[in-house]
Amino acid sequence: MRIEQNLHSTYPSLGEIPAEYLSGLPKDCPFYLVDGELLRWQGETEPVHSAMMASENGLLAPLHLGSCPVLDENAAMRAAKAAVDAYGRGLGEWPAMTQGERIRHLECFLERMAAVGDEVVRLMTLEICKPVRQARGEFDRTVQYVRDTIDALREMDGEDSRRFEGDDILARVRRAPLGPVLCMGPYNFPFNETFATLIPALLMGNTAVVKLPKIGRLLFSPILEALRDCFPRGVVNVITGNTELVHPILKSGCVDVFAFIGSSGAANALRELHPRLGRLRCVFGLDAKNQAVVLQDADMDVAAPEILSGSLSFSGQRCTAIKTVFVHQSRADELLERLKAGVGKLKVGMPFDPDVDITPMPEPGRAEYLRDLVDDAVSKGARVINADGGSVLGSLVHPAILYPVDSSMRVYHEEQFGPVVPVVPFDDDRTPVEYQAQSDFGQQVSLFGQNPDRLGRLVDAMSAQVCRVNLNSQCQRGPDTLPFGGRKDSAVGTLSVKDGIRAFSMRTVVASKNTDNNRALLSALQEGQTSSFLNAEHLK
Ligand code: G3H
Repeated sequence: MRIEQNLHSTYPSLGEIPAEYLSGLPKDCPFYLVDGELLRWQGETEPVHSAMMASENGLLAPLHLGSCPVLDENAAMRAAKAAVDAYGRGLGEWPAMTQGERIRHLECFLERMAAVGDEVVRLMTLEICKPVRQARGEFDRTVQYVRDTIDALREMDGEDSRRFEGDDILARVRRAPLGPVLCMGPYNFPFNETFATLIPALLMGNTAVVKLPKIGRLLFSPILEALRDCFPRGVVNVITGNTELVHPILKSGCVDVFAFIGSSGAANALRELHPRLGRLRCVFGLDAKNQAVVLQDADMDVAAPEILSGSLSFSGQRCTAIKTVFVHQSRADELLERLKAGVGKLKVGMPFDPDVDITPMPEPGRAEYLRDLVDDAVSKGARVINADGGSVLGSLVHPAILYPVDSSMRVYHEEQFGPVVPVVPFDDDRTPVEYQAQSDFGQQVSLFGQNPDRLGRLVDAMSAQVCRVNLNSQCQRGPDTLPFGGRKDSAVGTLSVKDGIRAFSMRTVVASKNTDNNRALLSALQEGQTSSFLNAEHLK
């Protein structure tokens, strides 16, 4: 009861929330973007609440932030048709535009986006309860990602758009767009991971329908006008509502690319709706159960803080979070002591507090799910080693370090996506390797140790199972110039500023027999205005 009272007192009264966060609330955004117009939705709307509660006269209630449309099937299909028409089978204004012109549109958008950054960050802070420092980081990273993608495209031109002249064959190779794209981002990185697919898709000449995340959609309202103004009509269309909204779009087969960041269950179920699966390119970032492996000779001054931050930043709601910790039996006590001390220093509180670490969880039912995971582990012999670990009030979950965890417990297998840190003792290096091999996931691993022989063997074993092996460092996606992918149920395709460009385009060849006549013809096409695909200006 004492803990619950403590947690209760961490929720603010309305008067304790900084005024700049409340200004302009509730924010009702009845608009959606279709074919270059912000249409006012006349149908059902849905209230948007923060996971953060606020008390008024001693009563706690979720903070009301505003409302968004719940669009229907017809509206979704209007958006899809606009994207299809704007693409015009590759002959629309956008896909046929020179690369330089497309970059200018993107730069115009970037400027408009940057201008509303503070508002997006404030809305993100309240809507998904991301600590304000991290919300600012997500926004700034996205701005940088757009810039880097533009730079990468300029750089890749040289590599990818070569003239080929063999003994028999002459050719020009270019990157061509794929078609209309459906983009869906997740609630935990709603802004960044929506643009991580949308920006390269647009830059490469595709058109798009963006379905906003169910949680984390109001924060897009400040940029809808910029999306309308900076692109030709129909190139970007933005819809919002339930997940079912995208069913008719996928079933119609009118999109050629499906970019989705979220759970593998949802991704697979949605993909299956497309009638021509062989034709649909999928770019997925999905589930993960990344492990940290703490070896006998690990430097605990490094391992403990990396594991704490790797497993608990944004309350564990990162696909890249460390979600299982294997520790060599001989170092378990030491690691646990340090984790316990470290977690005791974390600040549990509200997202607008610049010093906060652990915040309320926006996903309905997540707190109860985590409570069940902890109870299940405890009923099978694990202990919660830190004070208050696993206590819940509303959507706020106090971090729990569980030890010793074993394979009989759900948390050993399930992706908790929250502030629960299962610690598993081992005495044979093959144990974590076998865990990874048996796992449905294969995103990343963190290895903590010093001995090159031992680490070398583990790097080899793990690099055959995951897409990034971190040495004495937590798992993470960045920097965005590095490839970010996953094996098994963790991803389809790879993202990064360069890989995004590759994912949303296809190298396409125009070739001929190497004769004088054909050489002259190809030169004429390249120098003249008759083919925008071949025209050398196209790339500038
Ligand atoms: O949720 C998954 C994100 O891609 C994690 O990104 O490692 O940069 O925090 P991050």
